[in-house]
Amino acid sequence: MKKYIILVLILAGLSSCNHHQENTYWDYMGDFDMYYSKAYESYSPNPVFKDGKTLQKPVEGTIAREYMPYPFKDKFGDKAKAGKLLKNPLKATPENLERGKMKYDIYCAICHGKEGKGDGHLTKLVKNGKKLYPGVPANLTAGYIQAKPDGEIFHVITMGSAIMGAHASQIKTDDRWRIILYIKNHFKVK
Ligand code: HEC
Repeated sequence: MKKYIILVLILAGLSSCNHHQENTYWDYMGDFDMYYSKAYESYSPNPVFKDGKTLQKPVEGTIAREYMPYPFKDKFGDKAKAGKLLKNPLKATPENLERGKMKYDIYCAICHGKEGKGDGHLTKLVKNGKKLYPGVPANLTAGYIQAKPDGEIFHVITMGSAIMGAHASQIKTDDRWRIILYIKNHFKVK
């Protein structure tokens, strides 16, 4: 009896082997809804909702995880206000400074230079005798920048400045604060 059971198991095993990848052969668990979900597909019509769609928009006022809506809208008009109201929530720990440096080197150094002097690679590129990048990036080691409240620099990174573009979509909130810690701690006032 034992032998027959083993034989049946081996045969069942062999019959489910899939030598031709395009054919799935027997599906033993289909009846238990394990292979075929009864849930609606994301883009299929859906009679349950009023608009007939399966994918629904988030409820109004929903905030995505790790995302804080930025309260200021005006690039120049709100800069001073941001400087007063926003406080750096992070401390200059070795870990925060290290990550701040990593992000600075990726996103800022190309214009502001590895040591913050406003002499990044992009500023040196010249084509037909003309500078390829039209602006002069601020010297981040300068006293007037070092004296800026963290919130003001946060505003500049988030919204951009005169020529400098906004970096809100590339750099997460916490990493923006870490970059500021790095700028304030690593670059010496001159
Ligand atoms: C594509 C070049 C470019 C990149 C990248 C860039 N900047 Fe700038 N930045 C500039 C230029 C040009 C100015 C000066 C003109 C202006 O204000 O737009 C400036 C100005 C600034 C100022 C001074 C603003 C003020 O209030 O006077 C700060 C602070 C600053 N940048 C920080 C950063 C930080 C931090 C990063 C990285 C997250 C960064 N920048 C990335 C080009 C750049």
